[in-house]
Amino acid sequence: MKLPSSFYAPLAIGAPEPLRTLPIRLERMVHFVPPHLEKIRAKIPDLIGQVDVILGNLEDAIPADAKEAARAGFIELAQGNDFGQTGLWTRINALNSPWVLDDLIEIVAAVGNKLDVVMLPKVEGSWDIHYLDQLLAQLEAKHGVEQPIQIHAILETAQGVKNVDSIAQASPRMHGMSLGPADLAASRAMKTTRVGGGHPDYGVLADETEQGGERAFFQQDLWHYTIARMVDACASNGIKPLYGPFADFSDPAACESQFRNAFLQGCLGAWSLHPSQIDIAKTVFSPNADEVAMAKRILEAMPDGTGAAMIDGKMQDDATWKQAKVIVDLAKLVSKKDPERAALYDV
Ligand code: GLV
Ligand code: MG
Repeated sequence: MKLPSSFYAPLAIGAPEPLRTLPIRLERMVHFVPPHLEKIRAKIPDLIGQVDVILGNLEDAIPADAKEAARAGFIELAQGNDFGQTGLWTRINALNSPWVLDDLIEIVAAVGNKLDVVMLPKVEGSWDIHYLDQLLAQLEAKHGVEQPIQIHAILETAQGVKNVDSIAQASPRMHGMSLGPADLAASRAMKTTRVGGGHPDYGVLADETEQGGERAFFQQDLWHYTIARMVDACASNGIKPLYGPFADFSDPAACESQFRNAFLQGCLGAWSLHPSQIDIAKTVFSPNADEVAMAKRILEAMPDGTGAAMIDGKMQDDATWKQAKVIVDLAKLVSKKDPERAALYDV
Protein backbone atom coordinates (compact mmCIF):
# COMPACT_ATOMS: atom_id res chain seq x y z
CA MET A 1 0.00 0.00 0.00
CA LYS A 2 1.20 3.49 -0.78
CA LEU A 3 1.92 5.43 2.40
CA PRO A 4 -0.44 8.31 3.13
CA SER A 5 2.59 10.61 3.43
CA SER A 6 3.55 9.98 -0.20
CA PHE A 7 0.03 10.37 -1.61
CA TYR A 8 0.63 14.08 -2.23
CA ALA A 9 4.23 13.79 -3.43
CA PRO A 10 4.84 14.71 -7.09
CA LEU A 11 5.35 11.54 -9.17
CA ALA A 12 8.25 12.99 -11.15
CA ILE A 13 11.11 15.28 -10.17
CA GLY A 14 10.15 18.75 -11.36
CA ALA A 15 6.43 18.05 -11.68
CA PRO A 16 4.09 20.51 -9.89
CA GLU A 17 2.84 19.73 -6.37
CA PRO A 18 -0.45 17.81 -6.54
CA LEU A 19 -3.51 19.83 -5.52
CA ARG A 20 -4.95 19.17 -2.07
CA THR A 21 -8.35 20.69 -2.83
CA LEU A 22 -10.13 20.95 -6.14
CA PRO A 23 -10.33 24.40 -7.71
CA ILE A 24 -13.87 25.78 -7.34
CA ARG A 25 -15.22 25.96 -10.87
CA LEU A 26 -18.60 25.98 -12.50
CA GLU A 27 -18.94 22.88 -14.71
CA ARG A 28 -22.63 22.69 -15.58
CA MET A 29 -21.84 21.43 -19.05
CA VAL A 30 -18.77 19.96 -20.70
CA HIS A 31 -19.30 20.94 -24.32
CA PHE A 32 -17.85 18.40 -26.76
CA VAL A 33 -16.31 19.59 -30.02
CA PRO A 34 -14.73 17.54 -32.83
CA PRO A 35 -11.46 19.47 -33.22
CA HIS A 36 -10.52 18.15 -36.68
CA LEU A 37 -13.29 20.24 -38.27
CA GLU A 38 -12.15 23.71 -39.21
CA LYS A 39 -15.67 25.17 -39.16
CA ILE A 40 -16.04 23.97 -35.55
CA ARG A 41 -12.68 25.46 -34.55
CA ALA A 42 -13.80 28.77 -36.00
CA LYS A 43 -16.73 28.84 -33.55
CA ILE A 44 -14.58 28.45 -30.42
CA PRO A 45 -14.26 32.20 -29.64
CA ASP A 46 -18.07 32.49 -29.49
CA LEU A 47 -18.49 29.25 -27.57
CA ILE A 48 -16.08 30.31 -24.83
CA GLY A 49 -18.58 32.87 -23.52
CA GLN A 50 -21.51 30.46 -23.69
CA VAL A 51 -20.27 27.31 -21.96
CA ASP A 52 -18.52 26.39 -18.73
CA VAL A 53 -16.10 23.86 -20.26
CA ILE A 54 -14.93 23.19 -23.83
CA LEU A 55 -13.71 19.65 -24.49
CA GLY A 56 -11.81 18.64 -27.60
CA ASN A 57 -12.91 15.08 -28.29
CA LEU A 58 -10.25 12.73 -29.67
CA GLU A 59 -11.94 9.39 -28.85
CA ASP A 60 -15.19 7.76 -30.00
CA ALA A 61 -17.10 9.65 -32.72
CA ILE A 62 -13.78 10.75 -34.28
CA PRO A 63 -13.10 8.50 -37.29
CA ALA A 64 -9.86 6.48 -37.19
CA ASP A 65 -8.49 8.37 -40.19
CA ALA A 66 -9.09 11.72 -38.48
CA LYS A 67 -7.43 10.94 -35.12
CA GLU A 68 -4.20 12.80 -35.90
CA ALA A 69 -6.10 15.74 -37.39
CA ALA A 70 -8.28 15.92 -34.26
CA ARG A 71 -5.20 16.00 -32.04
CA ALA A 72 -3.57 18.71 -34.17
CA GLY A 73 -6.86 20.63 -34.33
CA PHE A 74 -7.16 20.52 -30.55
CA ILE A 75 -3.64 21.92 -30.13
CA GLU A 76 -4.48 24.67 -32.63
CA LEU A 77 -7.70 25.66 -30.89
CA ALA A 78 -6.01 25.58 -27.47
CA GLN A 79 -3.14 27.79 -28.68
CA GLY A 80 -5.35 30.17 -30.62
CA ASN A 81 -7.83 31.16 -27.91
CA ASP A 82 -7.92 32.72 -24.48
CA PHE A 83 -10.31 30.63 -22.37
CA GLY A 84 -10.55 32.92 -19.31
CA GLN A 85 -12.71 31.22 -16.67
CA THR A 86 -13.97 28.62 -19.18
CA GLY A 87 -12.40 25.20 -18.66
CA LEU A 88 -10.33 23.52 -21.37
CA TRP A 89 -10.47 19.72 -21.40
CA THR A 90 -9.66 16.97 -23.85
CA ARG A 91 -10.98 13.40 -24.08
CA ILE A 92 -7.99 11.29 -25.07
CA ASN A 93 -8.19 7.92 -26.73
CA ALA A 94 -8.39 4.77 -24.61
CA LEU A 95 -5.21 3.51 -22.97
CA ASN A 96 -5.09 0.40 -25.19
CA SER A 97 -5.46 2.38 -28.43
CA PRO A 98 -2.68 3.18 -30.92
CA TRP A 99 -3.23 6.95 -30.50
CA VAL A 100 -3.20 7.67 -26.80
CA LEU A 101 0.55 7.93 -26.21
CA ASP A 102 0.95 10.57 -28.92
CA ASP A 103 -2.22 12.32 -27.72
CA LEU A 104 -0.59 12.90 -24.35
CA ILE A 105 2.97 13.51 -25.48
CA GLU A 106 2.00 16.08 -28.11
CA ILE A 107 -0.76 17.85 -26.21
CA VAL A 108 1.10 18.31 -22.92
CA ALA A 109 4.20 19.48 -24.81
CA ALA A 110 2.25 22.05 -26.79
CA VAL A 111 -0.50 23.27 -24.45
CA GLY A 112 0.13 21.68 -21.03
CA ASN A 113 -0.13 25.06 -19.33
CA LYS A 114 -3.58 25.73 -20.78
CA LEU A 115 -5.12 22.30 -20.28
CA ASP A 116 -7.23 21.87 -17.14
CA VAL A 117 -8.43 18.29 -17.37
CA VAL A 118 -7.78 15.09 -19.31
CA MET A 119 -10.87 12.92 -19.63
CA LEU A 120 -9.92 9.24 -19.63
CA PRO A 121 -12.36 6.81 -21.25
CA LYS A 122 -13.02 3.13 -20.47
CA VAL A 123 -11.46 3.26 -17.01
CA GLU A 124 -11.51 -0.22 -15.46
CA GLY A 125 -9.70 0.28 -12.17
CA SER A 126 -7.23 2.37 -10.19
CA TRP A 127 -4.36 0.95 -12.27
CA ASP A 128 -5.51 3.01 -15.27
CA ILE A 129 -5.41 6.19 -13.17
CA HIS A 130 -1.98 5.31 -11.75
CA TYR A 131 -0.55 4.89 -15.24
CA LEU A 132 -1.92 8.20 -16.49
CA ASP A 133 -0.93 9.95 -13.24
CA GLN A 134 2.70 8.89 -13.63
CA LEU A 135 2.88 9.72 -17.32
CA LEU A 136 1.32 13.16 -16.82
CA ALA A 137 3.83 13.90 -14.03
CA GLN A 138 6.74 12.99 -16.33
CA LEU A 139 5.39 15.14 -19.13
CA GLU A 140 4.61 18.05 -16.82
CA ALA A 141 8.18 17.92 -15.49
CA LYS A 142 9.64 17.76 -18.98
CA HIS A 143 7.61 20.69 -20.29
CA GLY A 144 7.57 22.95 -17.22
CA VAL A 145 3.83 22.68 -16.64
CA GLU A 146 2.98 24.78 -13.59
CA GLN A 147 -0.37 23.39 -12.40
CA PRO A 148 -1.16 19.68 -12.27
CA ILE A 149 -3.43 18.58 -15.11
CA GLN A 150 -6.42 16.82 -13.58
CA ILE A 151 -7.97 13.49 -14.55
CA HIS A 152 -11.68 12.95 -15.15
CA ALA A 153 -12.64 9.27 -15.56
CA ILE A 154 -15.52 7.96 -17.61
CA LEU A 155 -17.46 5.26 -15.78
CA GLU A 156 -18.42 3.11 -18.73
CA THR A 157 -17.44 -0.50 -18.11
CA ALA A 158 -18.93 -3.06 -15.74
CA GLN A 159 -15.47 -3.51 -14.21
CA GLY A 160 -15.17 0.25 -13.71
CA VAL A 161 -18.49 0.37 -11.86
CA LYS A 162 -17.32 -2.51 -9.65
CA ASN A 163 -14.12 -0.55 -8.86
CA VAL A 164 -15.67 2.90 -8.70
CA ASP A 165 -14.46 3.68 -5.15
CA SER A 166 -10.84 2.81 -5.80
CA ILE A 167 -10.91 4.82 -9.04
CA ALA A 168 -12.24 7.85 -7.15
CA GLN A 169 -9.43 7.69 -4.59
CA ALA A 170 -6.59 6.62 -6.91
CA SER A 171 -4.80 9.98 -7.10
CA PRO A 172 -4.94 13.61 -5.94
CA ARG A 173 -5.21 14.33 -9.67
CA MET A 174 -8.77 12.99 -9.73
CA HIS A 175 -11.18 15.74 -10.73
CA GLY A 176 -14.30 13.59 -11.00
CA MET A 177 -16.22 11.10 -13.09
CA SER A 178 -18.88 11.02 -15.77
CA LEU A 179 -21.33 8.26 -16.51
CA GLY A 180 -20.83 6.80 -20.01
CA PRO A 181 -24.18 5.10 -20.58
CA ALA A 182 -23.47 3.99 -24.17
CA ASP A 183 -20.28 2.05 -23.53
CA LEU A 184 -21.58 0.86 -20.18
CA ALA A 185 -24.70 -0.57 -21.83
CA ALA A 186 -22.46 -2.43 -24.28
CA SER A 187 -20.11 -3.65 -21.56
CA ARG A 188 -23.03 -4.97 -19.50
CA ALA A 189 -24.76 -6.52 -22.54
CA MET A 190 -27.83 -4.40 -21.80
CA LYS A 191 -30.44 -4.86 -24.52
CA THR A 192 -30.59 -1.25 -25.67
CA THR A 193 -29.40 0.81 -28.64
CA ARG A 194 -29.37 4.27 -27.02
CA VAL A 195 -26.96 6.82 -25.55
CA GLY A 196 -28.49 7.66 -22.16
CA GLY A 197 -32.09 8.11 -21.17
CA GLY A 198 -34.79 5.60 -20.34
CA HIS A 199 -36.25 2.70 -22.26
CA PRO A 200 -39.98 2.25 -22.82
CA ASP A 201 -39.86 -1.41 -21.76
CA TYR A 202 -37.99 -0.87 -18.49
CA GLY A 203 -40.65 -0.24 -15.87
CA VAL A 204 -43.11 -1.53 -13.34
CA LEU A 205 -46.64 -2.73 -14.12
CA ALA A 206 -49.29 -1.78 -11.57
CA ASP A 207 -51.15 -4.69 -9.87
CA GLU A 208 -54.37 -6.03 -11.33
CA THR A 209 -57.42 -4.67 -9.53
CA GLU A 210 -60.77 -6.36 -8.90
CA GLN A 211 -62.37 -3.83 -11.23
CA GLY A 212 -60.06 -4.98 -14.03
CA GLY A 213 -59.31 -2.42 -16.70
CA GLU A 214 -56.03 -1.27 -18.10
CA ARG A 215 -53.01 -1.55 -15.76
CA ALA A 216 -50.75 1.48 -15.53
CA PHE A 217 -47.12 1.00 -16.53
CA PHE A 218 -44.50 3.27 -14.96
CA GLN A 219 -41.26 3.69 -16.81
CA GLN A 220 -38.21 3.50 -14.51
CA ASP A 221 -34.76 5.08 -14.70
CA LEU A 222 -32.24 2.58 -16.09
CA TRP A 223 -29.32 4.64 -14.71
CA HIS A 224 -30.45 5.21 -11.16
CA TYR A 225 -28.22 2.56 -9.59
CA THR A 226 -25.07 3.55 -11.45
CA ILE A 227 -25.52 7.28 -10.89
CA ALA A 228 -26.09 6.68 -7.18
CA ARG A 229 -22.91 4.59 -6.92
CA MET A 230 -20.92 7.19 -8.83
CA VAL A 231 -22.25 10.06 -6.70
CA ASP A 232 -21.40 8.23 -3.46
CA ALA A 233 -17.89 7.38 -4.68
CA CYS A 234 -17.28 10.98 -5.76
CA ALA A 235 -18.89 12.73 -2.78
CA SER A 236 -17.08 10.54 -0.26
CA ASN A 237 -13.76 11.36 -1.93
CA GLY A 238 -14.36 15.06 -2.53
CA ILE A 239 -14.43 14.84 -6.34
CA LYS A 240 -17.12 15.78 -8.85
CA PRO A 241 -19.79 13.52 -10.40
CA LEU A 242 -21.18 14.51 -13.81
CA TYR A 243 -23.84 12.87 -15.94
CA GLY A 244 -22.47 12.06 -19.41
CA PRO A 245 -24.06 12.13 -22.88
CA PHE A 246 -27.65 12.13 -24.13
CA ALA A 247 -27.66 11.55 -27.87
CA ASP A 248 -31.28 11.93 -28.97
CA PHE A 249 -31.11 15.58 -30.03
CA SER A 250 -34.70 15.38 -31.29
CA ASP A 251 -36.01 14.88 -27.74
CA PRO A 252 -34.97 17.84 -25.57
CA ALA A 253 -37.61 17.00 -22.95
CA ALA A 254 -36.10 13.54 -22.37
CA CYS A 255 -32.62 15.07 -22.24
CA GLU A 256 -33.79 17.58 -19.63
CA SER A 257 -35.40 14.85 -17.58
CA GLN A 258 -32.24 12.70 -17.64
CA PHE A 259 -30.08 15.69 -16.69
CA ARG A 260 -32.50 16.66 -13.91
CA ASN A 261 -32.56 13.18 -12.37
CA ALA A 262 -28.77 13.29 -12.27
CA PHE A 263 -28.77 16.82 -10.77
CA LEU A 264 -31.23 15.86 -8.04
CA GLN A 265 -29.13 12.80 -7.23
CA GLY A 266 -26.00 14.94 -6.76
CA CYS A 267 -24.39 15.40 -10.19
CA LEU A 268 -22.97 18.86 -10.92
CA GLY A 269 -23.20 18.88 -14.70
CA ALA A 270 -23.52 16.86 -17.90
CA TRP A 271 -22.02 16.71 -21.37
CA SER A 272 -23.50 18.80 -24.15
CA LEU A 273 -23.00 17.11 -27.50
CA HIS A 274 -25.14 19.57 -29.47
CA PRO A 275 -25.50 23.35 -29.07
CA SER A 276 -29.18 22.86 -28.13
CA GLN A 277 -28.11 20.99 -24.99
CA ILE A 278 -26.10 23.94 -23.61
CA ASP A 279 -29.20 25.80 -22.46
CA ILE A 280 -30.79 22.60 -21.18
CA ALA A 281 -27.74 22.03 -18.98
CA LYS A 282 -27.75 25.66 -17.80
CA THR A 283 -31.41 25.41 -16.84
CA VAL A 284 -31.02 22.10 -15.03
CA PHE A 285 -27.65 22.53 -13.30
CA SER A 286 -28.24 26.09 -12.10
CA PRO A 287 -30.45 25.99 -9.03
CA ASN A 288 -34.06 27.01 -9.43
CA ALA A 289 -34.72 30.60 -8.23
CA ASP A 290 -37.56 29.52 -5.88
CA GLU A 291 -35.32 26.86 -4.36
CA VAL A 292 -32.59 29.50 -3.83
CA ALA A 293 -35.10 31.84 -2.16
CA MET A 294 -36.20 29.03 0.18
CA ALA A 295 -32.58 28.07 0.92
CA LYS A 296 -31.79 31.71 1.81
CA ARG A 297 -34.74 31.75 4.23
CA ILE A 298 -33.45 28.59 5.92
CA LEU A 299 -29.94 30.04 6.32
CA GLU A 300 -31.35 33.30 7.67
CA ALA A 301 -33.64 31.49 10.13
CA MET A 302 -30.71 29.49 11.58
CA PRO A 303 -27.70 31.85 11.43
CA ASP A 304 -25.28 29.45 13.16
CA GLY A 305 -26.65 26.32 11.45
CA THR A 306 -27.87 24.65 14.62
CA GLY A 307 -31.18 24.14 16.40
CA ALA A 308 -34.54 24.04 14.64
CA ALA A 309 -36.84 26.54 12.92
CA MET A 310 -40.30 26.37 11.34
CA ILE A 311 -40.77 27.83 7.84
CA ASP A 312 -44.22 27.59 6.19
CA GLY A 313 -45.11 24.68 8.49
CA LYS A 314 -41.94 22.70 7.65
CA MET A 315 -39.37 21.88 10.26
CA GLN A 316 -35.78 22.85 9.47
CA ASP A 317 -32.71 21.62 11.31
CA ASP A 318 -28.96 21.19 10.84
CA ALA A 319 -29.49 18.79 7.91
CA THR A 320 -31.79 21.08 5.92
CA TRP A 321 -29.39 23.97 6.73
CA LYS A 322 -26.59 21.97 5.05
CA GLN A 323 -28.79 21.27 1.99
CA ALA A 324 -29.67 24.98 1.84
CA LYS A 325 -25.97 25.86 1.98
CA VAL A 326 -25.24 23.59 -1.03
CA ILE A 327 -27.90 25.46 -3.01
CA VAL A 328 -26.84 28.98 -1.97
CA ASP A 329 -23.14 28.20 -2.61
CA LEU A 330 -24.04 26.93 -6.08
CA ALA A 331 -26.18 30.02 -6.72
CA LYS A 332 -23.20 32.22 -5.78
CA LEU A 333 -20.94 30.32 -8.18
CA VAL A 334 -23.49 30.55 -11.01
CA SER A 335 -23.97 34.28 -10.32
CA LYS A 336 -20.30 34.98 -11.04
CA LYS A 337 -20.65 33.63 -14.59
CA ASP A 338 -24.28 34.25 -15.42
CA PRO A 339 -25.61 37.82 -14.91
CA GLU A 340 -29.21 36.87 -15.80
CA ARG A 341 -29.38 34.27 -13.07
CA ALA A 342 -27.44 36.50 -10.66
CA ALA A 343 -30.31 38.99 -10.83
CA LEU A 344 -32.85 36.24 -10.05
CA TYR A 345 -30.90 34.77 -7.14
CA ASP A 346 -29.68 37.93 -5.40
CA VAL A 347 -27.16 36.04 -3.25
C1 GLV B 1 -19.71 7.89 -23.47
O1 GLV B 1 -18.56 7.88 -23.81
C2 GLV B 1 -20.54 6.74 -23.46
O2 GLV B 1 -20.03 5.68 -23.83
O3 GLV B 1 -21.71 6.86 -23.09
MG1 MG C 1 -17.93 5.92 -24.32
